[in-house]
Amino acid sequence: MKKLSDAAHRLEGQRMFQILAVARELERQGKEILHFELGDPDFDTPKNIVQAAIESLKNGETHYAPSSGLLEFKKAAADVTLRSRGFKPDLDQLLVCPGANVQIYYAAACAVNPREEVIVPDPGFVSYFSILKFLGIKIVRVPLYERNEFRLNPDDVQKAITDKTRMIIMNSPSNPTGAVMTEDEVRRMYEIAKEYDVYLLSDEIYARMLYRDANTSHHSPSKFDQCKERTIVVNGFSKSYAMTGWRLGVVTGPAELINKMGLLLETTTSCVSPFIQKAGIEALKGSQEPIINMVDEFRERRDVMVEGLNSLPGITCLRPKGAFYVFPNVTKTGLTSDEFADVMLNQAGVALAPGTIFGEYAQGYARLCYANSIENIKKAIEEMGKVLEARQLS
Ligand SMILES: Cc1ncc(COP(=O)(O)O)c(C=O)c1O
Repeated sequence: MKKLSDAAHRLEGQRMFQILAVARELERQGKEILHFELGDPDFDTPKNIVQAAIESLKNGETHYAPSSGLLEFKKAAADVTLRSRGFKPDLDQLLVCPGANVQIYYAAACAVNPREEVIVPDPGFVSYFSILKFLGIKIVRVPLYERNEFRLNPDDVQKAITDKTRMIIMNSPSNPTGAVMTEDEVRRMYEIAKEYDVYLLSDEIYARMLYRDANTSHHSPSKFDQCKERTIVVNGFSKSYAMTGWRLGVVTGPAELINKMGLLLETTTSCVSPFIQKAGIEALKGSQEPIINMVDEFRERRDVMVEGLNSLPGITCLRPKGAFYVFPNVTKTGLTSDEFADVMLNQAGVALAPGTIFGEYAQGYARLCYANSIENIKKAIEEMGKVLEARQLS
């Protein structure tokens, strides 16, 4: 008798966590490792946010909350959407979730049937692929090109549409490339989704991590339909508020879909803990200064990282406009993505992700998350340089 379902056999997880586990094992063996593999801000969650959770716990808010989220939370999120995206969603368009990852899962599970198609940028966030494979949904990959600064090209998306397409995923600023789409490209994406009457899932978890020198503001396709018809905005607190361990996010979408996603959440998770939601309310309503400072600090690190990588033999690296990743081209080192990651981990003590975990069009690239000090970034560049130079000589 079979012991596992077919779907279980298709599960891939998030490979960065598996790389982290290997790096931790090397550390246990006494090796010093510099970490750039996981997208986890190294800043503490701002104190006012932590304090709000503590107060809530002290007040005994340790029971179930309404499954779609606290009213106060949803009202705060709607107000923020009005300020950031120019429209105020109805409260039944909002669902408070344990992070952003599950939002992608809930949305795909409730909007797309097995064997129907979802268009995904490649390279793209690993969970898109994992989730869709698990659900038996066909992934249609649209390659992102370095010559286009890794921005998703709407014309390529349009060409990939068939009569089986049910959803398009876009992600700007992007993981793993840090690319930011232009206002015009975002508008085109909405027009295409409307023309073919498909959902447009816009993963905007890095919307607040947009660098000043990018000279652009965040553009969301949600402004065209106010998330009433087809746009689903995936968002979370993990990155912008340094809250990865809290597991908190909010998704905005058409009420009918959000209702079904809410039933899935209610069935599998019951609700998001009320004290976590209280922390989220404080994050939304409290001072945004720590967040702005954090993004400025990331910008400085990005510059050190990009300059450092470009000084290494065989590596070229674009300067991303958002998120906290760089996606260098390592082809000229003569190593494949996987070999590069392996050599850097074992010989330079630098943990990073091979491009190949982000898709089929990412061979020859690597991803580094610069959630690490400038000192450690410089050290990593030095160690990587020693290994690459030694390989050149041999
Ligand atoms: C593009 C993107 N979407 C969603 C997520 C999931 O974030 P979380 O579940 O921590 O909110 C991540 C995390 O790395 C991401 O990079």
